[in-house]
Amino acid sequence: MRLGLVGAGSVATLYVEAAAGLPVVDITAVCDVRRDAAETLAAQAHAQVFDDHRSMFAAGGLDGVVITSPHALHTPMAVDAAAAGLHILMEKPMATTVSDCRLMIDVCAKAGVRLAVGNLQRFVPAVRQATDVLRSGQLGRPLLITERRAVDYDPAVRPSWFFDPEMAGGGIMMNIGGHCIDRAQVLAGERVIGVDARVWRRPGLKVETEAVGLLSLAGGLQVGISVTSTGLPPQNETEVVCEEGALRLSDHTGLWMFQAGRSVQLREPTDRQDFVSAFRDQLIDFAGNEAPTVDGDYGLSVVAAVQATYESAALGRPVSIAAVDEEAAA
Ligand SMILES: NC(=O)c1ccc[n+]([C@@H]2O[C@H](COP(=O)([O-])OP(=O)(O)OC[C@H]3O[C@@H](n4cnc5c(N)ncnc54)[C@H](O)[C@@H]3O)[C@@H](O)[C@H]2O)c1
Repeated sequence: MRLGLVGAGSVATLYVEAAAGLPVVDITAVCDVRRDAAETLAAQAHAQVFDDHRSMFAAGGLDGVVITSPHALHTPMAVDAAAAGLHILMEKPMATTVSDCRLMIDVCAKAGVRLAVGNLQRFVPAVRQATDVLRSGQLGRPLLITERRAVDYDPAVRPSWFFDPEMAGGGIMMNIGGHCIDRAQVLAGERVIGVDARVWRRPGLKVETEAVGLLSLAGGLQVGISVTSTGLPPQNETEVVCEEGALRLSDHTGLWMFQAGRSVQLREPTDRQDFVSAFRDQLIDFAGNEAPTVDGDYGLSVVAAVQATYESAALGRPVSIAAVDEEAAA
């Protein structure tokens, strides 16, 4: 599949790295409004350079696009790509609202193009291995999941658009919390149906920088989630407590299983190569699968849970995903 990259920022470099040597995809064009960024990345991929996505689509020679632009541009760019008959791999979050997700699904279906979404947790080797352990039943039924992320979420270290509520569609929950929601859904094999959450923002910023919440999944499982950016050292950790034991996935310590007083390390800490391999598997899935594994409906489920977080925080009470869906349909 001949692919064009829209956006030549941080995540786009991972796509170029992941696509290198992969026979099923060839990145033949790179577009960024920062022409120098497009040129640098295009040189690595031996691709053509564009500074306008519509010109890139009009030039032809592409089968699909990977869209890695700021969040609020995802929907209009998907509409343009579908109109040009291009298959779409859309970075997460799929869009900034549930109604935009619906629009994207609709235009892609009408144009007959594939829509895959970059909620890639299921392709991360440690998450895949943890999911296999849970499905094997050796730990019994999962009872609860805890998701904890601590990251730098500060204008000093992130692009400025991350802190523009219009362009980013939100703050740390939209950007980082979505990974936690994705991972919990993948591990549980169930979707979020309700959210009770609170958010805070550091003085001087317009988007939230801390969030805490309780997510209810369709089968009754509860997920505690904490996404923070003030004070704590970096952390990316998930715990799944089951009837007969528990799992812990941690960037620092790897994947561990705890059962009957014994602890066993199942996997070393996730490294950069694991991360690149997740992008590679996502590209293979996109190129080889007419119905991508992570489709628009799944991407929408993550955006709906993030939107429910914001509504719950604003109202100070739990919010159901059904209510968020109804609002979007109205
Ligand atoms: N899957 C993951 O693990 C992961 C990791 C990081 C980021 N992301 C997602 O990837 C996307 C990009 O994030 P990033 O960290 O690479 O941001 P970034 O700011 O580094 O890159 C975005 C690029 O888009 C370019 N751009 C802006 N407007 C454009 C336009 N009209 N046309 C073409 N290019 C335009 C910018 O100049 C910039 O180079 C976001 O959706 C983000 O949430 C996903």
